[in-house]
Amino acid sequence: MTQPQANIGVVGLAVMGSNLARNLASREGNTVAIFNRSYEKTATLIEQHPEAGFIATSTYEEFAAALQKPRTAIIMVQAGRGTDAVIDALTQVFEPGDIIVDGGNALFTDTIRREKAVRETGINFVGAGISGGEEGALKGPSIMPGGSAEAWQTLGPILRSIAAVAEGEPCVTHVGTDGAGHFVKMIHNGIEYADMQLIAEAYDLLRRVGGLTPAEIAEIFAEWNTGELESYLIEITAEVLKQVDATTGKPLVDVILDQAGAKGTGAWTVQSALDLGVPVSGIAEAVFARSLSSKPAQRAAARTLPAGSQEWTVDDRAAFVEDVRRALYASKIIAYSQGFDAIVAGAEQYDWDIKKGEIAKIWRAGCIIRAQFLNRITEAYAADPELVALVTAPYFADAVAGALPSWRRVVSGAALAGIPTPTFASSLSYYDGLRADRLPAALVQGQRDFFGAHTYRRIDREGTFHTLWSGDRTEISAADAH
Ligand code: 6PG
Repeated sequence: MTQPQANIGVVGLAVMGSNLARNLASREGNTVAIFNRSYEKTATLIEQHPEAGFIATSTYEEFAAALQKPRTAIIMVQAGRGTDAVIDALTQVFEPGDIIVDGGNALFTDTIRREKAVRETGINFVGAGISGGEEGALKGPSIMPGGSAEAWQTLGPILRSIAAVAEGEPCVTHVGTDGAGHFVKMIHNGIEYADMQLIAEAYDLLRRVGGLTPAEIAEIFAEWNTGELESYLIEITAEVLKQVDATTGKPLVDVILDQAGAKGTGAWTVQSALDLGVPVSGIAEAVFARSLSSKPAQRAAARTLPAGSQEWTVDDRAAFVEDVRRALYASKIIAYSQGFDAIVAGAEQYDWDIKKGEIAKIWRAGCIIRAQFLNRITEAYAADPELVALVTAPYFADAVAGALPSWRRVVSGAALAGIPTPTFASSLSYYDGLRADRLPAALVQGQRDFFGAHTYRRIDREGTFHTLWSGDRTEISAADAH
C-alpha cells in the first residue's frame, strides 16, 4: 500500500473551497488531498491547476487514505445540513486524534453541538470562521478557528501558512474552544453589515444633499481611503461607484435594483446579541435597512406618503463632505464598540477566553472589515484589558468628541430633509444614551411596577421596592410585598 501523501485535505470544491485548496497547495510543505461530492468538480480543478499537485480522491475512503495522521480536513460546503452530512461521512473514515475543520459560515451554536458530538468519537472538530471572500481564500484570508488546544497544535502551522499577513503577523489565532471561532466570525459579519450600511448612508447624503455624481463620490471615497477611514470596504466602494454600465452607459449603481440581500450572519449577530442583552443597535439597524429595502410591495404602497421635509441647502460643499466623513467615522467606532461588547458577552456566556486585542489584530488583513484603525483597537485593549467599552478608550473617545458637531449636523439635517440614516442616527442615540447621567429607564421601571408589580431599586437605599400605586402611595420592600 502506498504511503499517504497529503498533510491536509479539502472537502467541497465550490469557489471558496477550490481557492482555499489552491492557497494551501501553493505554500511550501503542503500537499493537498481534495474531494467533492460530484467528481466532476474535482476533475476540473485538477485539470485547471496541475501546478497545485493535488491528490484527487473520489470516495471518502480514498480521501482518508490519502491523508497523513493525524488526518486534517477542511470542509468548505454551504453551511447547514450539507455540513452535517459531510461530518458524518468523515467521522466514518477518520480515527481518534484526526481533525475535521468546518470553514463555512456556520451558526456558532451548531458548531458547539457538532464539536460535542464529534468529540465523543475521539476526533477533533474545529469550527473556523474564514473571511475574505473568493480572493481572500486564494491569496490569504483572516481565519478565526475555535476548537480544542490539541487540534490547534496541528492546525496552527497549516492555517498560519495560508492566512493573510498584517505587519509581518499571520491573521489567525486560536480564538477559543468549540464555537468561539464561528461566534467571532459572526460578529465580524455583523460589523461588516454596519460598516457597509454606514458607507451607503454617507453615499446617499453626498449624492442627494451634496449633489455629487457617483464618479465624484468615488473620488471622495478614494481620498477618504488615504486617511483614518482607510479600509477595504471604503476602497471597494470607490471602485463600485466608478463602474459604468456597459449597456446603458449609466453609473452601474443606478441600474442595480435597490434591494439588498443577506445570507443571515448579520441577523444571527443581532439575534445572539438580543439573547446576550447587548445593544448592537448600529448592527441591528443595518440588518433592518436591508430588510426594509427588500419589501417592494410596502415601499410601493408608501411611495406617495408625504415627506414633510425641509430643503437642505449646502453652502460649503467641502465642509459638508467633511461633516459626512466625520459622522461616518464616529458611527463606525460605535459599530466596532458594540461588536466587541458582543464578543465580551459571548465569551462570558460560553466560557471562552477570547483576547480582544488578538481579534482586532487578525482582522487587520485578509478579511472584509480590514481597516487601518484596527491597530488602534489592539492598542486600546493592550493599554486596558478590562476596558468596558471601546468607545471610552482615550483614542476613540477623542475621535468621537472631534466628530460630534459634524455627526449631530448630519443626523439632524438628514431628519429634517427626510433622508433615512438609520445607522448614523441610531449610533448617535446609542452614544448619547451611554453617556447620559440619568436615563428615562427610571420611568420605565415605574411603569413596570405599576402594571405588573415588577419592583424597582432606588438610588438612595439598598433593596427591592414595590409601590402600592392605587393605595396610600407608600412604598414597601418587595420582600414584604410578596
Ligand atoms: C467574509 C464575508 C462572507 C460573505 C458573507 C456575507 O467575511 O468573507 O462576510 O462571509 O460575504 O456571506 O454575505 P451576506 O451579505 O450575503 O450576508
